[in-house]
Amino acid sequence: MRTTSKTTLFITVVALVALAMGALAWINRQPSPGIWPILSFVFMAFLVDQSSTRAKVAARGSTSFVMHMAAGLLFGGFWGAVIAASSSAIGQLAIGNRPSKIIFNASQRAASVLIAVLAYRLLGGGLPPAYMQIVGTVESAALQRDFFLFFAYATTYFFVNSMAVNGVVALSAERSFRDVWSLNTRALIGYDLGASAIALLLAWLYTWFQATWDVGSIGLVLVVIPIVAVRHVYGLYHQLQESGQELLQVMVKAIEARDPYTSGHSLRVSKLSRLIALEMGLQIRDVEQVHTAALLHDVGKIHEEFAPLLRKEDRLTTDETALMQTHSARSAELVGIISNFRGFIQESVRHHHERWDGKGYPAGLSGHEIPLASRVILVADTIDAMTTDRPYRKRLPLDVVIAELKKCSGGQFDPEVVEHVVGSVAVRRLITVGVESSPMPATVVVSDPRTSRSGWAKKSFWKGRSA
Ligand SMILES: [Fe+2]
Repeated sequence: MRTTSKTTLFITVVALVALAMGALAWINRQPSPGIWPILSFVFMAFLVDQSSTRAKVAARGSTSFVMHMAAGLLFGGFWGAVIAASSSAIGQLAIGNRPSKIIFNASQRAASVLIAVLAYRLLGGGLPPAYMQIVGTVESAALQRDFFLFFAYATTYFFVNSMAVNGVVALSAERSFRDVWSLNTRALIGYDLGASAIALLLAWLYTWFQATWDVGSIGLVLVVIPIVAVRHVYGLYHQLQESGQELLQVMVKAIEARDPYTSGHSLRVSKLSRLIALEMGLQIRDVEQVHTAALLHDVGKIHEEFAPLLRKEDRLTTDETALMQTHSARSAELVGIISNFRGFIQESVRHHHERWDGKGYPAGLSGHEIPLASRVILVADTIDAMTTDRPYRKRLPLDVVIAELKKCSGGQFDPEVVEHVVGSVAVRRLITVGVESSPMPATVVVSDPRTSRSGWAKKSFWKGRSA
């Protein structure tokens, strides 16, 4: 998280909101649960926090939110916020974070609990909830109401948390809030809400052990087991994403092994395509898809029939050219094996050699009939061909590349794509310094939408509890 004047202001606002809500909660606080329950909650939340993981975009996530939510249910907003803020601050201190981060994370976690408890109370939820009553009879209407309102509680908690965390990340990374939310939170919001049910179990076990043996903390220890289970599920999700992306890299490397002159070509085209898509203002989800399609655009060349053509140094004959032109369809065939890639990505790969004037292949599509990603990939593909050394010529300088793109605009290329390339300082810089040697702009994925994000978080995986 980079600190700018905007982020400082945002952090100050979040801290002030937490303080104001904390003061309000102090006035209406529940009786103190005592020092040992507070310390055991803080300690357990701290322990869980230590296994936090990186989010997709410059943020960290952990599962300690279940401890904070349970503390809010058991002890009310004020004591819940004290537990959330102190465990978070200790955790942040332990990993040596800057004071601004410590203040932000302690404040946003406290504010999440405070606002969630307030919403829960305003909607008529009981504290402690009726389902926490271990002895005596429980009114079924109260039981149902408090169960139902738990979901309002959890939703409010995640709403406040994700607004604060994505807000500060968007400001520090200079990206739109929507993009950051979409990358960091959207895919995992269901998991988060589901996992929050563990807070219910945690609070119930704590109450049961407290009522039975007067040692509620044993309940906390028992809940570490389901928390580990939740972390395992998140871990599997992460691994799945990573191995999928690594598999793509293997596919791309395998094809490039056949053709030494195009080594690194797919990766460079994917970087360039992604940047062009960003410059065109595409939504971040589409940008990711353009990136993947570009990475795989030539993967069909792995088929044996293309091997002699790739090795051949002379010009291809008419028959050989015709055979070579089947590679985009063969690539699409391969890409379609992965169910997630059918549709947008597969069609973008299939048509990456279509020309704007309809003289391309395989289908002879023209203009807007050609998928947008294919039009972007064609331009990026051509730029890469012109800006890398070939056996028969050296790389071309930027002005020649730009002149060539302009010349072919409306013929081979989509004029709108060319306009964005020519008008973009970032694309020009990338062409000048070479895609490989260039540090990508803050938003560009190098390989894995969930991991190697140059300039952003590495090895990242979002669950969105801190920035
Ligand atoms: Fe191609």
